[in-house]
Amino acid sequence: MSVLIKNGRIVTAAEDYIADLFIEVDKIAAIGKNLPHKADREIDASGKLVLPGGVDPHVHLEMPFMGTYSSDDYETGTRAAMFGGTTTVIDFILQTQGDSLRNALKTWQKKSVGKAIGDYSYHMAVTDFNDEVAKEVVEFIEQEGITSFKTFMAYKGALMIDDGQMVQLMKVVKEHGGLVTVHATNGDVIDSLIAKHLSEGKTSPLYHYRSQPEVTESEATARFTDMLHFTGCTGYIVHLTCEGAMNAVRRAALRNQRVFVETCPQYLMVDASVYDNDFEGAKWVMSPPIREKKDQKALWAGLQQGLVNSVGTDHCPFTWEQKLLGKDDFSKIPNGHPAIEHRMELMYSEGVKKGRISLHKFVEVTATNPAKIFGMYPKKGTLAIGSDADVVIFDPEKHHTISKENHHMNADYSSYEGWQVTGKTETVFLRGQLAIEQGECHLKPGSGQFVKRGKTSYTV
Ligand code: URP
Ligand code: ZN
Ligand code: ZN
Repeated sequence: MSVLIKNGRIVTAAEDYIADLFIEVDKIAAIGKNLPHKADREIDASGKLVLPGGVDPHVHLEMPFMGTYSSDDYETGTRAAMFGGTTTVIDFILQTQGDSLRNALKTWQKKSVGKAIGDYSYHMAVTDFNDEVAKEVVEFIEQEGITSFKTFMAYKGALMIDDGQMVQLMKVVKEHGGLVTVHATNGDVIDSLIAKHLSEGKTSPLYHYRSQPEVTESEATARFTDMLHFTGCTGYIVHLTCEGAMNAVRRAALRNQRVFVETCPQYLMVDASVYDNDFEGAKWVMSPPIREKKDQKALWAGLQQGLVNSVGTDHCPFTWEQKLLGKDDFSKIPNGHPAIEHRMELMYSEGVKKGRISLHKFVEVTATNPAKIFGMYPKKGTLAIGSDADVVIFDPEKHHTISKENHHMNADYSSYEGWQVTGKTETVFLRGQLAIEQGECHLKPGSGQFVKRGKTSYTV
């Protein structure tokens, strides 16, 4: 199968020009003006952007969490991602405390193989570090193509590791060229604030927000970067939300550290007033919580300054019935929201269209940098000869409205219900196969492949 996409505006992290793009089987085979190639399929992309398929570095599919499972599995989650122009996702395997990384990997392979519609990889979440796990970390880097190790500084009793384990993990990961990623919030302080609020009868979603003040994130972020400094390891902070944490990263940069930072659309675009509306706020119960307007400003500045390197979704959807588990106790509301489908369109509409970031920056943070940081570049994350033909044709002027009525995620509400967005993913190819066209998904479960990753490219 060959495809010729004609006259599109080709946009990468570095380039922007009108040209044709030729796909042969699963790879990009040529890019240039007036290509002479004959193809099985020709598409006129005049007036459209031609972008690399998005890479979402932070999703949770069918994840066991807070007594339930996130409601998108590999099929529904990667399909929804595809509708939004994201062709590759990185999910999190969770080690069960007391068990091996290998067993966790087998569990996640059962969830994904034969089911995924889009391409995927895994971060390995180390929740219980010891000498046996240290050996497995090396095997994962050298043999499995899993080169990033997630840690949690919160969720004690289920996912959190202590600082001693963190430092030991960092030493092994550094020695073998991997990356330690972190959910950086102070779990002990959060747990004490949750207990205090509940003892005072404060049970609504607002107290989820008040149990995780900015200091719980800025302190943990500084502690994490200090531990990176001590061990010489390179780190990646997931879902960074606030000015204090951003400044901790700035201080690390002053010591010449290389710390990668991810934020998410919700932290750039939504403020904590969403918690004012009683239980409606459960739609935005996630950790860390949505913050203040001044934090949004700091995050957009971080993107502009190159301190924020990537934008993931932290897609962790639950149905409304699942959210109701916390009707009388905010600490039982499953943390997370449906987002995998909207990342590219929200970042284009709120970022590029509103003049906050350039088109190049948009591609850089939604595709190129995640691919580079997590060792998938240039197979993924760019439009170049020899790269996987993961290609998005994007209509930059199309207006549409986000709604649970038209999204493809397995969630019966949308946090973004009624949001007006400019720019829409129109057509998507995954490794040369037609994935999305005219609002239909053409790929079957099992079309998605596991992406074996290499070592991080430390310069982005
Ligand atoms: O609230 C969130 N973020 N849920 C998913 C788990 C995590 O902490 O990333
Ligand atoms: Zn997290
Ligand atoms: Zn997450």
